[in-house]
Amino acid sequence: MAKIQQIIAREILSSGSTPSVEVKVVLETGTIGVASVPYGASAGISEAFVLLDGDKNRFMGKGMIKAVENVNKIIAPVLIGMDVGEVGSQNAVDQKMIELDGTERKTNLGANAILGVSLAVARASANDQKLPMYRYIRQVFGLEKYGLLPGSQKPAGEGGCDYVLPNPMMVVIEGGAHADESTDLQEYMISLIGNDSVAENVRRGIEIYFTLKKVLKDKGYNSNVGNEGAFAPNGLPSNETPLELIKEAVEKSGYIFGKDVGISLDPAVSEIYENEKYELAKDGKNLNSDEMINYFVSWINNYPIITLEDALAETDWQAWPKLTEKVGDKIAIVGDDLTVTNPKLLQKAIDLKAINSILIKLNQIGTLSETVECCMLARQNGIMTIISHRGGGETNDTTMIDLAVAVNAGFVKVGPSRGERVEKYNRLMEIETELAGNCTVAGSNFRKII
Ligand code: PGA
Ligand code: ZN
Repeated sequence: MAKIQQIIAREILSSGSTPSVEVKVVLETGTIGVASVPYGASAGISEAFVLLDGDKNRFMGKGMIKAVENVNKIIAPVLIGMDVGEVGSQNAVDQKMIELDGTERKTNLGANAILGVSLAVARASANDQKLPMYRYIRQVFGLEKYGLLPGSQKPAGEGGCDYVLPNPMMVVIEGGAHADESTDLQEYMISLIGNDSVAENVRRGIEIYFTLKKVLKDKGYNSNVGNEGAFAPNGLPSNETPLELIKEAVEKSGYIFGKDVGISLDPAVSEIYENEKYELAKDGKNLNSDEMINYFVSWINNYPIITLEDALAETDWQAWPKLTEKVGDKIAIVGDDLTVTNPKLLQKAIDLKAINSILIKLNQIGTLSETVECCMLARQNGIMTIISHRGGGETNDTTMIDLAVAVNAGFVKVGPSRGERVEKYNRLMEIETELAGNCTVAGSNFRKII
């Protein structure tokens, strides 16, 4: 156990050069923890509030000096002296900030301020106990009671293992709000579901990424990249074309499409939903909810799509259960903007049978405790978790990876290229090495590890 001695925030840059917040926590033992928060480009409307300065003379209004000051002047004095490290202590710290803010969406202090502190406290505390973050998360939240199961169901040391590592889900073609003049839909991803190892799956993914670059060039498309390091070619004839291009890249790389590699999609269609219609400009279509569902069902019948995220708008709740009813037994129907890592919205989605999987982003809800609560609520209800980066602005902080390992997530959605993204894969591969003999890979069993 150790007490918090000092909390200091500063404004930093995230990828995409939008500002963000970094927080340093110093414990009385002298141990330090540093963490930073990401920034979303296509944020859901119910996400926790990101406090921006709004001063047009600095960073086009996107400065985060106010959030920094909220940490240094309002949050720090209240948290200094609190104990960290014991079961329940992270919850106590996060709860204190939630009360101090006093609003549903953290609009007073800003989720960017609160999350920075939450993660830096966790980091300091884990460092103090000389625990890797994934072990710390399991311990401080007492996660063992949720039966986070060894891949083989046996205890470690008896042929079982304590951790199931997530599969890589890599964005390889991006459009929508993440790139100009590409597709209407936001993300086309490759999910590596071979059962070998994380490092092997990452390698395969990167090989396919490079092969895709060649496929694009050979067909006369440009291979410039968008926000997340994925290709954002213009001039594609339809929203379906990327599926064909990916198929070609997978096969040319020597992998079996549908077995080693599946397709994951995040159309993020809240961005193209207006007056109860989905505007697919590239296809010259304007679809109602049922037609939108059928549009994706026909793709599912023709391609090995294994996860489908935000295929309907975040406000189109009535349509989600229809989609899940239709294809939920075959593929993962994932809520992102719909559920925004919020346990209350997840509960609503569970009650309505709207989804069978959820995307998890720490800054959508704004504390580590609420994020873990959401993951455990998912687990208790058979909902697979996918831990995700943010498209707009990432930092080199890798907490999302340790979180994924701690909660037995099925996938991590990140990358494939750019420093702040590959940092995540490097961390995942580091954990795999560290856990040698005590971990397995989700692989094609990803829906069975919940
Ligand atoms: P973001 O989008 O830019 O809001 O992080 C990524 C996503 O929708 O998954
Ligand atoms: Zn999404």
